[in-house]
Amino acid sequence: MVTRVVPRIPFSARLTWPAPENALSALRTELRAKAAPILDFSESNPTRVGLGASPDGLGFLLDPANARYKPDPRGLPRAREALAENYRMRAGQTPSIFLCASTSEAYGWLFKLLCDPFDAILVPRPGYPLFDHLAGLEAVEARPYRLEYAHPAGWRIDLDSVEAALKAGRARALVLINPNNPTGSYVGCREREALVELCARHGCALIADEVFYGFPLESDENASAAESRSSFVGEDRVLCFVLDGLSKRLCMPQMKLAWIAASGPQLELREAEGRLEILADAYLSAGTPTMNALPSLLAAEEVFAGPCRRRLAASIARLRLVLEREHSPHRVLSCHGGWTAIIESPRLQSEEDLALGLLREKGIWSQPGYFFDMEREAYFTAGLILEPDALERGARAYAAHFERIMGD
Ligand SMILES: Cc1ncc(COP(=O)(O)O)c(C=O)c1O
Repeated sequence: MVTRVVPRIPFSARLTWPAPENALSALRTELRAKAAPILDFSESNPTRVGLGASPDGLGFLLDPANARYKPDPRGLPRAREALAENYRMRAGQTPSIFLCASTSEAYGWLFKLLCDPFDAILVPRPGYPLFDHLAGLEAVEARPYRLEYAHPAGWRIDLDSVEAALKAGRARALVLINPNNPTGSYVGCREREALVELCARHGCALIADEVFYGFPLESDENASAAESRSSFVGEDRVLCFVLDGLSKRLCMPQMKLAWIAASGPQLELREAEGRLEILADAYLSAGTPTMNALPSLLAAEEVFAGPCRRRLAASIARLRLVLEREHSPHRVLSCHGGWTAIIESPRLQSEEDLALGLLREKGIWSQPGYFFDMEREAYFTAGLILEPDALERGARAYAAHFERIMGD
């Protein structure tokens, strides 16, 4: 008789994995297997839509210095100095720089630096689910605080919900996405003051993800100085870590270079730097060729990011043109920055059924609002880095799908 051996490996329960496939992802897999054309309305990879470095513009990687390996836990000095100079020019601040491979990795380092298992970090809702995964991988709780929307002013942080989340205990860091993905909302100057005060009072560090900071879109015409956007670079009243990287800033996710710009009260900052150095030394993950190229890449920022900025502006204008014509049942929520717009549509069916219909009948893959924990239905996201003609075609097909259901 053959006995079946049942594996009894005690895998970690940090995440629910493998993630069960839902009806939407199952349909996408099925359509892909049939090579059916799909327009990815949530496109976020600039290298798939003609942005970032062109194939013949990669000469910056051919530096003879790339033949040498001189590990430095903070990253090569020449790269850090170029970045410090960049921040001095942009923000008049010189934060302490740590280079790593991606902002996702930077989150992992900071959660290790600040949290023990079962501690909490505060994350925005609606928000990008990536942060729940990154927290889960460090056995840390991702505790939500609310953003609320008022049209047309846009999104604002519900400060009471931040305070309640801080008071719930074990909160080690407040994560601010500035501007947030997918709401496109920046942290305003007045919000910043209140948040810094809350963090100082509760002994909590700040992590400000500013990967989309350089992509402002529709400014709120009525915004006062107190409401206008504010960067956290150089914030010195609380321990503060600003995250950014080439992935979004230069549309080069494949280059795998990101950084932490740390600041804060001297004593705490020095302590954090020493610990981060030990952490970074255990990984040494930033690649030499990209670090050596960083000074020339930063000097050419407009060459790489300029076309992206122009495309974002053109894309959101097209989206509004199609979806906000007279008597349209749709509207595009105010979007102050970033690469994503949110479309609000009538809830003719559940978001999941609408998403399935859009994919099956129109070949449009769009992330429904529940994916980002929107409080109501029906919302869908549109990636503004898509080529504007493609986005416009998609928006027309999107509108036609709703018209078809309304006509049934
Ligand atoms: C707000 C935000 N931060 C960080 C990331 C991850 O960026 P990276 O490629 O540097 O890991 C994403 C990915 O889309 C994002 O939306």
